[in-house]
Amino acid sequence: MNVLVIGKGGREHALVWKLRQSPRVGKVFCAPGNAGTARDGATNVAIDHTETDKLQRFCAKEQIGLVVIGPEDPLAAGLADFLRGKGYKVFGPSKEAARVEGSKVFAKELMRHADVPTADFRVFDHPDPAKAYVQSRDYPVVVKADGLAAGKGVMVCKDTLEAIRAVERIMIRDEFGRTAGRNIVVEKRLDGEEVSVLALVSGRTILPLPPCQDHKAVHDGDKGPNTGGMGAYCPAPVGTPELLKELEDRVFVPTVHAMKRGRFPFQGVLYAGIMLTPQGPRVLEFNARFGDPETQPILMRLKTDVLDLLEAVADERLDQFEGRVEWDRRPAVCVVLCSGGYPGKYDTGKAITGIDEADALPDVKVFHAGTKLDPKGRVVTDGGRVLAVTALGDDLAAAKARAYAAVKLISFTGMHFRTDIADKALKKK
Ligand code: AMP
Ligand code: GLY
Repeated sequence: MNVLVIGKGGREHALVWKLRQSPRVGKVFCAPGNAGTARDGATNVAIDHTETDKLQRFCAKEQIGLVVIGPEDPLAAGLADFLRGKGYKVFGPSKEAARVEGSKVFAKELMRHADVPTADFRVFDHPDPAKAYVQSRDYPVVVKADGLAAGKGVMVCKDTLEAIRAVERIMIRDEFGRTAGRNIVVEKRLDGEEVSVLALVSGRTILPLPPCQDHKAVHDGDKGPNTGGMGAYCPAPVGTPELLKELEDRVFVPTVHAMKRGRFPFQGVLYAGIMLTPQGPRVLEFNARFGDPETQPILMRLKTDVLDLLEAVADERLDQFEGRVEWDRRPAVCVVLCSGGYPGKYDTGKAITGIDEADALPDVKVFHAGTKLDPKGRVVTDGGRVLAVTALGDDLAAAKARAYAAVKLISFTGMHFRTDIADKALKKK
């Protein structure tokens, strides 16, 4: 079967890499892809996800049997509906179902309706009442732009002044775009440890993947502004079997059922970002897709044929895999290497050295994110998050040590990364 992966991040490189291991896979294409997808046997296709007619013609020409949509933007724009409507098999939710990520207002209201545990919140469509509200609270708040903002539209505020600034950045200065910032959610700040739980969802079946922990803030010790994710490990020991059972009962089942009842059933990966508070787990956000970087350590551990799994989701026969998905017993740690300045402004086009040396280490895989090949065929930086260096180890400490040993071999001007990925789990031991 020929497969088309949409996207160009570390997640898509990991999907391409894993798909290529399937004996059933013919050609793999990635639109637009990056230097890593090209090196790992995919053909990069220079079509933007908004060029839907071109994509459709491409699918016809290459006899694409499955389209896997990685990022949130094409899902929110309705690419899955469009291609399904043209008769193609697609992994990923409809535009309506993708609102669970694309609109924080929608997600919060869905959770309120389905009685899913989440932080208390209010929605505002004007800055003045929002500012008055944050001033009247005697607890710290989080201010969120309603729409998509690449993980950066959420501001965890330490005091009222910061909250007011956040309202202004989103609603007055339109820093995250006019549409994304038209409405905001103001919610109570929760404290605790975070865990990402991703589940494959199709029809009536919910199949949770092993829990991960992401590292959202740019600096060590969770300091600095939020990013798309600076590193992740899997499995996260905080995601105990008891917690996963509780999340299935109180989060996934009610959410999936509410979406079904609302006539926007979910198909794809439903990702719940959870805060483990002293009062119990609370949902911080939903994503309608594979997490990035969570997917890199998850797929590094997956032993089951990923094409079989993704196709079963698209065909609504995921129940065949319940209790049957196989995993490498070893944990995986992923460290993201970023461009100088990220998550703010950064330059691109910096030459990267050491990727092949790092990749040659045993049980290490260097997934590319913001990279491309320059005219001379060299790998250069092309985005904020550049590489996702991922390693398996006999235990978490060994996986971490191996990932950082690989990181040490890589360099580019301005490169920065967190040095404490997986430490929350390691320090508890
Ligand atoms: P979101 O995109 O809504 O998940 O927010 C991104 C990140 O912001 C989360 O992973 C948390 O680190 C942080 N965050 C979001 N909501 C809250 C909250 N209510 N309390 C504390 N931190 C939060
Ligand atoms: N790593 C967080 C996300 O994919 O949104």
